Amino acid sequence: MDIKPIDPVNRPFFAGVVTGLDLRKPLTPEEVKAVHAGMDEFAVLVFHDQPIDDEQQLVFSRALGPLEQATGDIAAPQDRRMSMDLNDISNLDKNNQVLARDDRRRLFGLGNQLWHSDSSFKEVPAKYSLLSARTIPPAGGNTEFADMRAAYDALDEETKREVHDLICSHSQIFSRGILGFTDFTAEERIKWAPVRQRLVRRHPSSGRLSLYLASHAGAIEGWPVPEARAFLRDLTEHATQRKFVYAHVWKPHDLVMWDNRATMHRARRYDHTEVRDMRRTTLTNEVSSLEQAP
Ligand code: OGA
Ligand code: MN
Repeated sequence: MDIKPIDPVNRPFFAGVVTGLDLRKPLTPEEVKAVHAGMDEFAVLVFHDQPIDDEQQLVFSRALGPLEQATGDIAAPQDRRMSMDLNDISNLDKNNQVLARDDRRRLFGLGNQLWHSDSSFKEVPAKYSLLSARTIPPAGGNTEFADMRAAYDALDEETKREVHDLICSHSQIFSRGILGFTDFTAEERIKWAPVRQRLVRRHPSSGRLSLYLASHAGAIEGWPVPEARAFLRDLTEHATQRKFVYAHVWKPHDLVMWDNRATMHRARRYDHTEVRDMRRTTLTNEVSSLEQAP
C-alpha cells in the first residue's frame, strides 16, 4: 500500500491517493494502521477502482472503527433503499427511480451543496466518512473538500484568540433554512434540535487544530444571532478559498474517505434527471467536539 499527495506542488499534506489496496478483501492490522496514519496526514484519501458492494463497504469501514447510524436522513424508514448503517447519497427512491425535482427528500439533500462537516448536528458527530461511487452522472456532481487545519493555521493571531473558546449551535434546521427549506415536521424539529460544538478543536492523533465549521452552525453562544452568522460566514469564506480546496472529479468505483474533524466538503450540481448513486458509511467520533479542546 502506498499514499501520495494528489497535488504535491500546491497541497503536499492534503488529499492523498492510495494504491495497492483491494477494499473487497479484509485489511491486515498493518494496513488498517497505515490507512489511519494516511488520514492523520492527508485528511482526505482517494481509492480508485474499488468495485465494492454494501457489505464490502461495511466490512472495510468497521475495520477502521465503530459506525454511526443514518439518523440524519429525512427519508421514512419504509422508504429507505439500505440499512441504517449506510447513508443514501443518491437521487433515487426505493424502486431506483430518479426523485422528482420537487421531491422533499431531494430538496433536503440539496443541503449537501453547502459546505459542511458530516453530522456536526449530532451531539456525537462523525469521524471519517467513506463515500463509494456506484453510478455517477455524465457531467458535474464533483465533491469539494476544504482543509480546515490549513484554514485555521492561516488565521491572524487576533482571530485565533477570538475563536479559541467559542461554542456554536449546529442543526440541520439551520443549514436547510439557508436554502429556504423549512418543511420540517414537529418530530423532525425535536429530533434535530441544535447541539453544541466547539469552533476550534484539536485532532486527537495529529494534535493539529482546525476550524470546526459547517452550514449547520447557526449561532455562537453568547453572541447576537446576526453577528454570529456574519462571522461564521466570513470564517467559511476564508476557509474555503481555492488554495485550501481539493475538488474530486468522480470516476465509477472511486471511494473517497475524509476526516470530518479536519475538513469541510460540499457536493456540486449535476443534471437532476441523471442517476447519481453514492453510498456513505460514517465512523462515529465517539465523543463530542467539546471534549477535543485546543
Ligand atoms: C456526503 C456528502 C457530497 C456529494 O456524502 O456526506 O456531503 O458530493 N456528499 O455527494
Ligand atoms: Mn456530507
